[in-house]
Amino acid sequence: MSLNVNGKITQTNRSPETPLLWVIRDELKLTGTKFGCGIAQCGACTVHVDGQPTRSCVTPVSTVVDKKITTIEGLSPTGEHKLQKAWIAEQVPQCGYCQSGQIMQAAALLDKKKNPTREEIVAHMDGNICRCGTYQRIVKAIQRAAKEA
Ligand code: FES
Ligand code: FES
Repeated sequence: MSLNVNGKITQTNRSPETPLLWVIRDELKLTGTKFGCGIAQCGACTVHVDGQPTRSCVTPVSTVVDKKITTIEGLSPTGEHKLQKAWIAEQVPQCGYCQSGQIMQAAALLDKKKNPTREEIVAHMDGNICRCGTYQRIVKAIQRAAKEA
């Protein structure tokens, strides 16, 4: 199978039902995307597939052939996406484990809505769990990023 990950075409011969997460982490060594629950309940594994936030732990790799996959490593070539800068400015992470999934989920929101309300942010981020409880800082960072042109 041929995959387009962060703009690079790559091949995998894993079985079709292999979760995309393991191709990303084990084969491509893109370890920013995390394994949390494995059952689509936490959001740590969130990537974009054709711009949609997607739980890679439950996405069979065969279903994303010919689609555009973006991981946290591909969000910005320099690591300077407005959300990444806002995350640093607001000092969002604690342990950090959930944070790449949080940023990918947030990026999908700002892609479709430039200036979301607090309620829209909370609703959109609802499925991304943070065991360290950084939720308030996540909202502040998204609001900060949204203000950037
Ligand atoms: S690891 Fe995929 S949603 Fe938790
Ligand atoms: S920063 Fe620790 S789980 Fe979110």
